[in-house]
Amino acid sequence: MHWQTLAASLTLTASGADALLRFSCSQLVVERLDPLVNPGMAPSPHLHQIVGGNAFNISMDPKAPPPTVATCTTCTFADDFSNYWTAVLYFKARNGSYHRVSQKPNVGFEQATGGMTIYYTPYIGNTKSTVTAFQPGFRMLIGQQNYRTKAEAQKFRQLTYTCLKDPMTRSGETMDMPTAPCKAGIMANVRFPTCWDGKNLDSPDHMSHVAYPTSGTFESNGPCPTTHPVKIPQLFYEVIWDTTPFNDKALWPADGSQPFVWSQGDQTGYGSHGDYVFGWKDNALQKAMDTNCNINCPQLKTQSIAVGNKCTRQEQVKESIDGWVDSLPGGEMSGMEHA
Ligand SMILES: *[C@@H]1O[C@H](CO)[C@@H](O)[C@H](O)[C@H]1NC(C)=O
Ligand SMILES: *[C@@H]1O[C@H](CO)[C@@H](O)[C@H](O)[C@H]1NC(C)=O
Repeated sequence: MHWQTLAASLTLTASGADALLRFSCSQLVVERLDPLVNPGMAPSPHLHQIVGGNAFNISMDPKAPPPTVATCTTCTFADDFSNYWTAVLYFKARNGSYHRVSQKPNVGFEQATGGMTIYYTPYIGNTKSTVTAFQPGFRMLIGQQNYRTKAEAQKFRQLTYTCLKDPMTRSGETMDMPTAPCKAGIMANVRFPTCWDGKNLDSPDHMSHVAYPTSGTFESNGPCPTTHPVKIPQLFYEVIWDTTPFNDKALWPADGSQPFVWSQGDQTGYGSHGDYVFGWKDNALQKAMDTNCNINCPQLKTQSIAVGNKCTRQEQVKESIDGWVDSLPGGEMSGMEHA
């Protein structure tokens, strides 16, 4: 089965043969900070939406892991103080003004304030295998914010979009932004590489310490390269953008192109990217991976979505990101999407 179909059926009907954590993390904050790529810089060049522990900050010292700093998390697994973030989607009107697209919770997590759905998968199907959970201080990112072509984006196998016909749509993933209105919104799918060099918690580009399997995919149990021999859980974000208020084709560009643009000025969709700072307490994640929890995990401490919703963080960068704005926050590359 093709990985997309496999992952799709898995998402909806995880059978007893699979093992994966699937949980909700509500919005923590939406602001121009990026402690991975632009530590110490406030504001960072473009806007992000962040979920997870409230230790998220302008800089995040790998020697002070999130569980030692955070006092709450927006995730339903209460020992997960990790931070997960992506760019933010905007709608661009015919007159050139932009409007932020809000996020909406996934099926089963309707009470959550925006945020995203997070998965950690040790294996899929009957190909049982063991994975090594991320270590304290581990971080990584996937995607390149400045990519604008399919050829570039192909470097990343599993950064895709699902045009939601209804909230349960899980087929037809594309690498570029959907070209027609999506009745129930656009889901951005961010799957990270699943092989680690076993030594480095980070790397200068935040990517080279991890790699994809040499052949096949994680889903088909493809082998890890000798340079990156350690199999890690597959980290996967589903982010649902509620594009439905902008579905009227009369609002779309007259040339028939689609109107959604990532906060870094990418209208193609090929610049999708996701960031991760590991922050599980003690060995909670390893324990969950070893016991092959599926969706629910009685071994882990949980909290309700309502409690997760209460964990928020004051914006440190004060600027207007909502309502109709003349340029994308930071202004970077706005108006250049067609260049
Ligand atoms: C965030 O960083 C600032 C310094 O840049 C520090 O004063 C503050 O205590 C930090 N907040 C948290 C929650 O770590
Ligand atoms: C631009 O277009 C949007 C959508 O049609 C409209 O709501 C907004 O008021 C317009 N802004 C300006 C400055 O004309």
